[in-house]
Amino acid sequence: MSRLVVVSNRLPLGDNPSGGLVVALEEALSGGGVWVGNSGTPVDAVEERLTPHPGAAFDRLSFDVTHEEHENYYAGFANSVLWPLCHGRVDLMRMRPDYPSAYRRVNRRIARLIAGIVEPEDRIWVHDYHHLPLAYELRQLGVSNPVAFFLHIPFPGPMAFQALPNSAETARWIAAFDLFGLQSMRDVSACLEAFRTVPEASILLNGRMALRGEEVRVASYPIGIDVEEFARTAAAAPPRDTEGRATVIGVDRLDYSKGLPQRFRAFGTLLDRRPDLHGKVELLQIAPPTREEVEAYREIREELERMTGAINGAHADLDWTPIRYIHRPVPRDRLAGLYRAAYVGLVTPLADGMNLVAKEYMAAQDPKDPGVLILSKFAGAAEQMPEALIVNPHDGEDMVQAMVTALWMPLGERRERHGAIMKGMRARDVHWWRRAILADLERVAQGDAPKAA
Ligand code: G6P
Repeated sequence: MSRLVVVSNRLPLGDNPSGGLVVALEEALSGGGVWVGNSGTPVDAVEERLTPHPGAAFDRLSFDVTHEEHENYYAGFANSVLWPLCHGRVDLMRMRPDYPSAYRRVNRRIARLIAGIVEPEDRIWVHDYHHLPLAYELRQLGVSNPVAFFLHIPFPGPMAFQALPNSAETARWIAAFDLFGLQSMRDVSACLEAFRTVPEASILLNGRMALRGEEVRVASYPIGIDVEEFARTAAAAPPRDTEGRATVIGVDRLDYSKGLPQRFRAFGTLLDRRPDLHGKVELLQIAPPTREEVEAYREIREELERMTGAINGAHADLDWTPIRYIHRPVPRDRLAGLYRAAYVGLVTPLADGMNLVAKEYMAAQDPKDPGVLILSKFAGAAEQMPEALIVNPHDGEDMVQAMVTALWMPLGERRERHGAIMKGMRARDVHWWRRAILADLERVAQGDAPKAA
């Protein structure tokens, strides 16, 4: 029997793992599937084994990393080299000699552990930038099962790709997968461009690339959400009392790729320009902490705290705080209610693979009286949501104008835009995404080329 073996850095632990990706994969994993991921707690010395975590509808198996590997593989190569590069921030890249070797070592160990449990008919699906070398390492061990990869973040542009200390090797890692899935057409173009810079690589027809006898198909599969499930959660959430104010909501991990200073600055400019809005509008920004072991994340946190203080100091009144900034995670059902009550969703990253907040905000709206989505043109979601108010987050004027347009948008236009976006989201929800990738992997495995995306 063919099982699905999923690999990701984060393993869904806890008794009720209900994140979007889990909902998406659960069906494919039922009937014997396996999810392999990081145990989440670094150890002093690793044992070469997978630890089972019972309690889910599928098998969950964790691998360990040492404190040193957490620093050099996770905080280091993954989040201080690959993450900034993929998000167009070569200036924030910090390379140390121990990073690539730890990244390689951890992935080689995961490959050995997977080789120990994989059965001949299994399909393997690897997620995200933490595990780019996995198919290559599996092939070295003689594992010939079909392996798909999905990159949840943007593919770097050709310049950033060449800034990788090991770009030719990275290309060989990519070529070792059977299927290399990306979020958007922009990412597919970037990937093909990157391969053009690799001397021995060739670009074939139908989204295929070849390197040293390996052939990989590259295509875009924009990830979606479970639209109906999220809409139900939002409708069932207790309504939030907004005290008659229009809430503009932002929800992002506190990451420098999310464009939060630009967003806060634009909101400050809106308040400078429009005293008539004082007391009537608020920016509710939820920004849970993330990767605080990396310096760039500590810096963005300080910058944002300074800005919030300055803007609130300049504008707040005894009964009005213009920016409510919450530096904590908020449970998913609570969040759904906050989205529904918010008049405007402000999703303005400087770079983003897809951005599911944009989709969740729209799904949470009351179709009879929906809010307005302001969306950065640099989010992968913008390719799919032309009916949002698309902005350039580097252009403060553009953002201020979009907020004014959103706050005064008539009901008819809000409904029309919401309806069009919902239609697209329903057609390409998270179940479509999973089925499309697994079906293409199957075709590639059978030697039958899927249609070009
Ligand atoms: C992004 C990445 C995921 C990652 C998540 C949270 O969405 O694509 O792979 O798990 O951020 O980041 P963290 O470093 O906390 O896992």
